Amino acid sequence: MSKIPVWIDCDTGVDDAAALLTANQLDNVQIVGLSTVAGNVPLDKTTVNTLKICDLMKKDYPVYMGADRPWIRPYVDASDVHGNDGLGGAPLPAPSRKPENKKAWDALYEEAVRQDGELVLVAIGPLTNVATALTLHPDLKDYLKKILIMGGAAVGGNRTASAEFNIYVDPDAAQTVFRCGKQITMFGLDVTQKAYVTAEEMDRIAEKVTPVTTFFKESMAPRMPFYEDLGIVGVCLHDVCPMLYLKYPEIFELEEAGVYVETQAELTLGKTVTDLFSDHQFEKKNAMVALRVDREAFFRHFSDALQSY
Ligand code: RIB
Ligand code: CA
Repeated sequence: MSKIPVWIDCDTGVDDAAALLTANQLDNVQIVGLSTVAGNVPLDKTTVNTLKICDLMKKDYPVYMGADRPWIRPYVDASDVHGNDGLGGAPLPAPSRKPENKKAWDALYEEAVRQDGELVLVAIGPLTNVATALTLHPDLKDYLKKILIMGGAAVGGNRTASAEFNIYVDPDAAQTVFRCGKQITMFGLDVTQKAYVTAEEMDRIAEKVTPVTTFFKESMAPRMPFYEDLGIVGVCLHDVCPMLYLKYPEIFELEEAGVYVETQAELTLGKTVTDLFSDHQFEKKNAMVALRVDREAFFRHFSDALQSY
């Protein structure tokens, strides 16, 4: 079977780590590059975390550093959710290697050209690197087969009442991505807040004791109270959603929509405005928006991936 070449742009926090561990085990995926961006925690920490997870996977995927701040807005982090180190304090050895010397946006472009139109880009953090790459290299979009993102929400928000964190951190970059002319496959809170793993399911995964399952439980379990306070009965594996879509698209339900980002207002800054539930329709349907997931299947495939190490 020919594998899908995949580039992952991440702000490695606890669910990015789970997403990397998942993608690495999908037999139809070949990770060809990783890039890091300021998001959950600052760039130096998201980079160290990504390198640590590569060591945990025993892989030496090239890691390229990108933006240490958003395009225009002041940088805000999510250390309140992911812990000061970004991995929930779960103990991992210091990384065995350094990131590459090339900037993320240039490395991504060069790999997209090398893959000659087959590269799938999965962005699971703020979209600063992706927007920078699309701006510096206007033909990048022609070399990308697909752009999948974890970000946004047709309804609600988790950083403000109306904005999801990844989009809120850099709404201007996000707007550039949604307007780039290539359809975006968007895994927003509408679906990712349904993609949760309960405490009992976490224990079940960790019953097979390996460094990977131990790390997963140690990094995720402390997040439970945060989600319980939100009335969600498990920890949301936001960033795992686009990864499992790569192999199991059938467990997700998506709808075509127009999606644009609020970059000026105060109350709704970073909102992904969609026409899904509106009589007024945007002219251009620039996104496929994931709305539902078969959670049992999601958990089964995720658990299989983590227990396959
Ligand atoms: O809103 C959830 C998103 O923000 C996830 O990507 C999580 O890792 C954080 O970056
Ligand atoms: Ca993330």
